[in-house]
Amino acid sequence: MAAKREHFGGRTAAILALAGSAIGLGNIWRFPYMVGQTGGAAFIIIYLAACLLLSLPIFLAEAIIGHRTHAGTFGAMEQLAPGTRWKWLGLLTVLSPLIILSYYSVVGGWSIGYLWQSVTAGFHASDIGTVSSAYAKFISSPGLPLLFHTLFLLGCAVIVSAGVKSGIEKFNKITMPLLFVLIVVIMVYSISLPGAAPGVSYLLKPDFSKITPSAVAAAMGQSFFSLSLGVGTILTYASYIRKDENILATGLGTVGFDLLFALIAGFAIMPAVFAAGIEPGAGPGLIFETLPYIFAKMGTSVPWLSAVVAVLFFVTIVFAAFTSAISMYEVGVAYLVEQRGLSRHKATVLIFLGCWILGALCSLSFGPLAETKLFGLSIFSFCDMLTSNFLMTFGGLLFVLFVGWKMDKSVVRDEFTSGGTARFNCAVFDAFWFLLRYVAPIAIVVIFLTNFLA
Ligand code: TRP
Repeated sequence: MAAKREHFGGRTAAILALAGSAIGLGNIWRFPYMVGQTGGAAFIIIYLAACLLLSLPIFLAEAIIGHRTHAGTFGAMEQLAPGTRWKWLGLLTVLSPLIILSYYSVVGGWSIGYLWQSVTAGFHASDIGTVSSAYAKFISSPGLPLLFHTLFLLGCAVIVSAGVKSGIEKFNKITMPLLFVLIVVIMVYSISLPGAAPGVSYLLKPDFSKITPSAVAAAMGQSFFSLSLGVGTILTYASYIRKDENILATGLGTVGFDLLFALIAGFAIMPAVFAAGIEPGAGPGLIFETLPYIFAKMGTSVPWLSAVVAVLFFVTIVFAAFTSAISMYEVGVAYLVEQRGLSRHKATVLIFLGCWILGALCSLSFGPLAETKLFGLSIFSFCDMLTSNFLMTFGGLLFVLFVGWKMDKSVVRDEFTSGGTARFNCAVFDAFWFLLRYVAPIAIVVIFLTNFLA
């Protein structure tokens, strides 16, 4: 079974795929917004530390499991801890990415809808209230969001069914460089807008008084989320990395790209927000409110330029969402192919059906199913809350405990140092081991409690 497994072509391919999973709405909206609200440059410094000292070790823990076993989440647990309760971690991390995928596909669908509008009609509104009510009307209508959700999920299915190398690797190799070019173009446009300067200083001015314990917890949570940790996607992608590849180098490359993209996105979004005279608000929904309004407003001076940037922006969002979504999709497909003996095509179809149904319920929960509540939340919010606040952190904690406390230290060292051949890795192994065993579990509990109490 393992012999027939596909592999990524090389280090670049692996890093681009992993970065494809990591780079998403978390970088484009959540990060810039958090920077602004929590101390500007001071937050960026803390975030950097959180990425390197916390999220990188967690990332490596997941990657080590996948790379060691060359199996998906469930198979990996069966290999490393056969016949134990760890198999539940394997199962949990097959399910949680699929729940995320279901509602993620709804938001991906909205992005396709907005891309469609930016191409066909553009954005025209004299005030933000008009944009907000158009958004509310769009997401609560039953037809179009369902259609776009279907298209988004179908797009993922086509890529994933083509296989690891000719589907996932190829798509990320084309899309990821393109995303970087696009976000840089948008950044240049944004910074050149009249009135953009306060947006730049919003991101650069350190305000150390805002560095409270809760800001530190927020930085840790954001770096955890941004690197797609805790749900087995990193594990699964790492299982496609060649045996002789250096896991630490791959991890550093992924973290570096994820961070770079978040920073560029910050300078792409905030100057435009300030130039349009909007208070930097909250929540991913604002991508569909604040920014269309900005495009409408900028359109009054140089209409064609603003229209082009609007299209480029939604192309960026749609493709960033695709590269993340296929990483979640692949976790389920790997399980069905390796553990249940299904063909890749059958597995893709089965996951499509399951996620389509759950996603459709999430989509309808903004309209016809608005009154259906689970623990007082709409179906969409429930799936979001369940995964973001519980399953991700819980999965991350268990992965870290597994590698730090259950696996053989010699096996972990062997993976981390490429069998003792990588000199730099040997030199930093003890630091990694300490961060993994003590710092990471405590930090994850802190993130969990902050999410929980927030
Ligand atoms: N990292 C993604 C982003 O920044 C979001 C995300 C969280 C994710 N968990 C995930 C993506 C699991 C893929 C798989 O937007």
